[in-house]
Amino acid sequence: MSDEPDHPRANACAIVLAAGMGTRMKSKRPKVLHRLAGRTLLDHCIAAAERATGNRPIVVIGHHADAVRAAIGDRAVFAHQDVPLGTGHAVMQAKTHAAGAAQVLVIHGDVPLLRPETLRQLAALRERHDAAIAMLSVISDDPRGFGRVIRDAQGERVLTIVEEVACTPAQLAIRELNVGAYCFDGAWVWDALKRIRPHPRKGEYFLTDLIEMAVADGREVRALTVEDRDECIGVNTRVDLADAERALRRRINRQHMLNGVTIVDPETTYIEASVEIGADTVILPNTHLIGRTRIGGDCQIGPNSYIVESEVGDRVRIAQSTVEHAHVEDDVHIGPFSHLRPGARIGAGAHIGNFAEIKNSTLGAGSHMGHFSYLGDASVGEHVNIGAGAITCNFDGAKKNRTVIGDHAFIGSDTMLVAPVTVGKRARTGAGAVVTKDVPDATLAVGIPARVIRKLEDPNASA
Ligand code: UD1
Ligand code: MG
Repeated sequence: MSDEPDHPRANACAIVLAAGMGTRMKSKRPKVLHRLAGRTLLDHCIAAAERATGNRPIVVIGHHADAVRAAIGDRAVFAHQDVPLGTGHAVMQAKTHAAGAAQVLVIHGDVPLLRPETLRQLAALRERHDAAIAMLSVISDDPRGFGRVIRDAQGERVLTIVEEVACTPAQLAIRELNVGAYCFDGAWVWDALKRIRPHPRKGEYFLTDLIEMAVADGREVRALTVEDRDECIGVNTRVDLADAERALRRRINRQHMLNGVTIVDPETTYIEASVEIGADTVILPNTHLIGRTRIGGDCQIGPNSYIVESEVGDRVRIAQSTVEHAHVEDDVHIGPFSHLRPGARIGAGAHIGNFAEIKNSTLGAGSHMGHFSYLGDASVGEHVNIGAGAITCNFDGAKKNRTVIGDHAFIGSDTMLVAPVTVGKRARTGAGAVVTKDVPDATLAVGIPARVIRKLEDPNASA
């Protein structure tokens, strides 16, 4: 492919077709709202179209229009196709929004891996030859439902596209496929669309009929053959969806690796499109990084970890753990087998060992929580030690109550902190204490229920 300047094509508009039924997905959900690496199919298409043209694309909606509109919001301009009468009819519905553009790009909302630079090359190709149509094709041994590109005897000019269902056995053997992305001459396309006749079998107006029409009008049709087959994956079934997911995963992981992230096994590392990772971080197998997650540099994440919508600082280690909607500062170690739930905030240098659960709680810098512990609705200060098996009893059967633990406190093994309760700075609780009343600063409380038995003058005194 030629190298075109990497800037949007100002005189172009893009139309994304998303009004079809998507029946082959066998789903309650509209096809274009199925997700790929954390974003809907349509989101991927809209992003590519916008980056190619520099302006908001027009999305043709129809089937489940309200759901699609709600999912996309103001990232697109909407045109409505009341009855799904085919891809040609769908483009026609965008006319009022698109008339006036010299270049009219059309892509299908179910071809989510197309790159914006490919669309720009397509527009440039059309412009260079003043073609009526420039279209994308791909050579593939797996034609799965695609229209076949029929060329002249010399194999140069494109003559027509034949849908798989209408192919003769000889045409079925053709390996050049119609991707479903076109750039049309804006001065030609709107009148041409009016001339499409419905297909006798399905009553649909096929956009692909424009190819033959352009040839009959004596106009050029050019095809740009995409080398990266992954770009052309069209999602019609869930099998295609899994193929697209795998291909996109490869693309995303590759970009992180080129940015300086070590991914030990890219085939088993699942990173969604919106994730950011700093250089020299190592991701071990079977790790999932989901949503708007940000991981700093020099971290080690995984194996078997699941991190959702979380902020993770530099030099953090997370092994075999789940971290959801949490904030983790620099130099923290977590796991194996711990669970940070929404609202967990972990201060720098804190250590969380195995079988720890933290929800809606702060664990201050340098604090330790090594074994079998639960913190719910708690504010824990700095350099606190949470002994093995210590938990907050934050739920009284009706509501959640807070626990506050001061800096340098020492919570003995198996302490039950019955909230609402405060344990003061440098205070200590004995092993097995059931703390139902506040423990003042620098005192020792023991027993069931816990009683203060001693004041601790020396902060380093032992219980
Ligand atoms: C279409 C092409 C085929 C190409 C393939 C590539 C036609 C006639 N065929 O077939 O040559 O190889 O895409 O993916 O164009 N849509 C509407 N309104 C409609 C019908 C469809 O908006 O009335 C939208 C769908 O939501 C979808 C896209 O157009 O996003 C393509 O429709 P689909 O039914 O998937 O066409 P294919 O059978 O894949
Ligand atoms: Mg399709």
